[in-house]
Amino acid sequence: MIELRELGFGYRGGPDIFSDLDTSFEPGTISALVGRSGSGKSTLLYLIGLMLTPRTGAIIVNGMDAAQLPDWSRAEIRAQMMGFVFQDALLDPARSVLDNILEGALYGRASITEYQDRAIELLDTFGVEVDPSRKPGQISGGQAQRVALCRAFVTSPEIVLADEPTGNLDVETAHIVWNALFDRAAAGATVIVATHDRIRAETCDQVVEVGNGAHR
Ligand SMILES: Nc1ncnc2c1ncn2[C@@H]1O[C@H](COP(=O)(O)OP(=O)(O)OP(=O)(O)O)[C@@H](O)[C@H]1O
Ligand SMILES: [Mg+2]
Repeated sequence: MIELRELGFGYRGGPDIFSDLDTSFEPGTISALVGRSGSGKSTLLYLIGLMLTPRTGAIIVNGMDAAQLPDWSRAEIRAQMMGFVFQDALLDPARSVLDNILEGALYGRASITEYQDRAIELLDTFGVEVDPSRKPGQISGGQAQRVALCRAFVTSPEIVLADEPTGNLDVETAHIVWNALFDRAAAGATVIVATHDRIRAETCDQVVEVGNGAHR
């Protein structure tokens, strides 16, 4: 379970984006973060993903205030528990599609061949029909987004944080991606998705409205 307690955050020298945010995310559920562009959806995912440190309040992961832990410890929690899909995929251009997917799996518990098989399986599930030895510069934006999903899913993490994972996808492919996210939740994971897709958001277990325009 992830719990945000009186969470406050603003970028360095900037105004508060959140103040006194209280909400929680249960295992086995999928939550949608919605709100206008610039309202702070990505920022909230970075906070939950322990990549940013709050100004005030707590981010409770597994009963601990993870925001207060040292960097190495937060990195460990991230590697062992979380899969993160960045809004713009953020693949390493110097590595192959396959190596990008396996990057986070180096810290995992299964063998690398096991992860490799799973990576190939995921590429197939998400309909990414490219040679996994290709570099990210040689695939489309929508394919890159799905490769980023494969990377987040390959270790079957307990927490999946996805930032507009269907933003560049056609309706049919978006459907496959949403199904995969719902499946992770059904398998017991805590899934949080930032999205502009209001219709999909309404089908999630929880909708969190980020920002109300008050800070802008
Ligand atoms: N690194 C940064 N430094 C300073 N301000 C930032 C930084 N990143 C984002 N912001 C600002 O923080 C606010 C929230 O941005 P964020 O990216 O979280 O919004 P968002 O809801 O994800 O928007 P979108 O729907 O366009 O993806 C915006 O006003 C943005 O300009
Ligand atoms: Mg965003």
